[in-house]
Amino acid sequence: MTNPETLISEEEILGRVSELARQISGDYADKEELVLIGILKGSFIFLADLARRLTIPRRIEFLAVSSYEHGSVRSGAVRLVMDVRHSIEGKHVLIVEDIVDTGHTLHYLIGMLKTRKPASIRTCTLLHKELSTEVEIDIDYVGFTIGNEWVVGYGLDYDEKDRTLPYIGVIDPNG
Ligand code: IMP
Ligand code: MG
Repeated sequence: MTNPETLISEEEILGRVSELARQISGDYADKEELVLIGILKGSFIFLADLARRLTIPRRIEFLAVSSYEHGSVRSGAVRLVMDVRHSIEGKHVLIVEDIVDTGHTLHYLIGMLKTRKPASIRTCTLLHKELSTEVEIDIDYVGFTIGNEWVVGYGLDYDEKDRTLPYIGVIDPNG
C-alpha cells in the first residue's frame, strides 16, 4: 500500500488554519460567544485545530448528515442523522465543514439552522471544489480551493479509509 500523493502538506494546512483562526477571532471579537458546529465526520480534525487557535469565547457542537444515494449517484438530498445538543437561538453560529463539493449539504444545513433563529450564521470550510458547484452558497471562510479530484486525509475519507492521514492527499477512486 503506497500513501496517497500529497496535494496540501501538513505545514500548509496548519499555516492556513492559523490564518483562518486569526480572521475569525477578529471578526467575532465584539461578540459574547461563537458556537462552532462541526459537521461529522469529516470536520473533526479541522475543527479541533481551528477551535484551539481561536482567541475568542467559543463552544463546540457537532451534527451529522448523510447524503441519500441511488446506487452510486448522489441525489443531492440530505438527511440529518445527529443533531446539536443545545439550542442555537440568539447565538452566533459558524458551520465548520471539511469540504464543499456540490454545495447541497451546506445549502441544506444553512436552511435548517436558520429556522432556529440564531443571531447570525456563517460558514467555514477547509476545502472548496469550486468547479463542482451545483448550488450557489456564500462561504465566508475557505481554506483552499481545489479541483475536481477526490481528496483524503485530515478528516476526509474514501470509504472510511485515510481519514487520519496528517496531510491532504489525492486518490483515484477508480484506480
Ligand atoms: P456536497 O453536498 O456535494 O457539497 O458534499 C459534501 C460532502 O461530500 C462532504 O462533506 C464530504 O463528506 C463529501 N465529499 C465531497 N468531496 C469529497 C472528497 O474529495 N473527499 C472526501 N469527501 C468528499
Ligand atoms: Mg462532510
